[in-house]
Amino acid sequence: MTRNPITKEQLRSKKWFDDVEDPGMSALYLERYLNFGLTREELQSGKPIIGIAQTGSDLTPCNRHHQDLAIRVKEGIRDAGGIPLEFPVHPIQETGKRPTAALDRNLAYLGLVEVLHGYPLDGVVLTTGCDKTTPACLMAAATVNMPAIVLSGGPMLDGYHKGRTVGSGSIIWEARQQLAAGELDYEGFMELAAASAPSIGHCNTMGTALSMNCLAEALGMSLPGCASIPAPYRERGQISYHTGKRIVEMVWEDLTPSEIMTKEAFENAIVLASSLGASTNCPPHLIAIARHMGVDLDMEDWQRVGYNVPMIVDCQPVGRFLGEGFHKAGGVPAVLAELIAAGLIHEEPLTVNGKTIGENCREAFTHDREVIRAADEPLLQSAGLMVLSGNLFENAVMKTSAIDGAFRKRYLEDPEHPNVFMGDAIVFEGSEDYHSRINDPDLGVTANSILFIRNCGPVGYPGSAEVVNMLPPDSLVKQGITSLPCAGDGRQSGTSGSPSILNASPEAAVGGGLALLKTGDRIRVDLNNRKVDMMISDEELAKRQAELVLPELDNQTPWQEIYRSMVGQLSSGACLEPATLHLRIIDNKGLP
Ligand code: FES
Ligand code: MG
Repeated sequence: MTRNPITKEQLRSKKWFDDVEDPGMSALYLERYLNFGLTREELQSGKPIIGIAQTGSDLTPCNRHHQDLAIRVKEGIRDAGGIPLEFPVHPIQETGKRPTAALDRNLAYLGLVEVLHGYPLDGVVLTTGCDKTTPACLMAAATVNMPAIVLSGGPMLDGYHKGRTVGSGSIIWEARQQLAAGELDYEGFMELAAASAPSIGHCNTMGTALSMNCLAEALGMSLPGCASIPAPYRERGQISYHTGKRIVEMVWEDLTPSEIMTKEAFENAIVLASSLGASTNCPPHLIAIARHMGVDLDMEDWQRVGYNVPMIVDCQPVGRFLGEGFHKAGGVPAVLAELIAAGLIHEEPLTVNGKTIGENCREAFTHDREVIRAADEPLLQSAGLMVLSGNLFENAVMKTSAIDGAFRKRYLEDPEHPNVFMGDAIVFEGSEDYHSRINDPDLGVTANSILFIRNCGPVGYPGSAEVVNMLPPDSLVKQGITSLPCAGDGRQSGTSGSPSILNASPEAAVGGGLALLKTGDRIRVDLNNRKVDMMISDEELAKRQAELVLPELDNQTPWQEIYRSMVGQLSSGACLEPATLHLRIIDNKGLP
């Protein structure tokens, strides 16, 4: 396509390294970048300087191999006539950070914005992988709006244990149930967990990591096919090289995130999310990226665009296969081709390779119909998230398609009130409270209980915790009741067969309706009208409102304090609200 290419004179980095108007400053900027062997020729002859935003480290095992992939990225950048400069991004390891890695997404975002804005960079390669690394990098690229390309690290190989596949995260959830039921001991638990992590790479299930990298590809921010390539495969190194080459061309073409991440591109990402059975963490992340891009996107867009989309990918935790199977079947391009054939995708949005998403994916082939179905033969109909509201919250989501047959039969197939169920609330004040009391016989949990958890949102936890899917007490599990409906202002990890109402906003800690709920309250869930309510009188609600005392927040670190004072709710992306006001920090061709 015809674009207005930029010239050497317009490179941002020239202002640092080769400003004849201000030789004093240029000399100062330049000399220290020579001290490890770069030459003046490299830095002053108009070669684009490309940042490699490195999210991998020993603390972030999911992304650690990006340190090796960066070698191929650099070779690509060099071969295309650019100069690579690799720099660290604040680590975000989903499974390693206490109290939660969710706190660190916005911190890494802030840090990356500062680096991209304040250093002599003309473009950037975003090394994504583990859950929050992808949104953090894309949020920063959106804010700064300099040419940027996503390189995901790819999933681990498929895990196996005694002949069956074991997927990241899913197996932990399953093993916890087995432990509770006395079918597994500590040693067995550890052995299963280790088997689910057989190689370098991020989670091999369609959890947040793989989901978000697939969404980044559907947004047009990575080369086609990038998301699914397993981390150890040769293609991973090859796409790293191509990504490095391509970012240099993007600088010359002045192809920026604002041209790629349009409203239509975000709608495509939502459609893909439903078709994948993607993580319920995707809405807050995608909304956060959109807000930093200046694109209006909210939960009603998820309902409107995503709810009726069929699920056509059979991956754990909802389905059967893992990352390798998904990749061999064709990955994101094949899924998009099926969705394009069904008329569900906008084909026009531009992608990082300079072609439209339609041009990239229309002809992509599905190699394994077990893993990727045609849209008219889906695994599930209406597989998107249902967006709910009521007197408990303004906004929450439920993956109605994940509700299993047993639960449907038990609660949702009453001929008089189809898709409506009632239950009695059992309320927990966070996950410690849940763990300490769930097996207390006096709690009175029955098959008709709905388990609620609160104070687990962005402000309450802080950062929002993946704690909403709670197991019933061991006594019920032993009777065969392995799941109960759950609800809360936190998030959910993986999936469970029971209906889980997640991401309730506003959260209890800021006085959302959930804060007024008491154990024993009758709850009505009406999926026909997308309503969830506590069945108590307006007078009683007003009384509780008047008596409400918000929990005291105990900050363990300075960042927690800053985060809590600025963070918004999950329904609007849990962004640092003041940061969403600063759009387009860098004018494409200009200077900070
Ligand atoms: Fe890092 Fe799942 S824990 S990707
Ligand atoms: Mg997770």
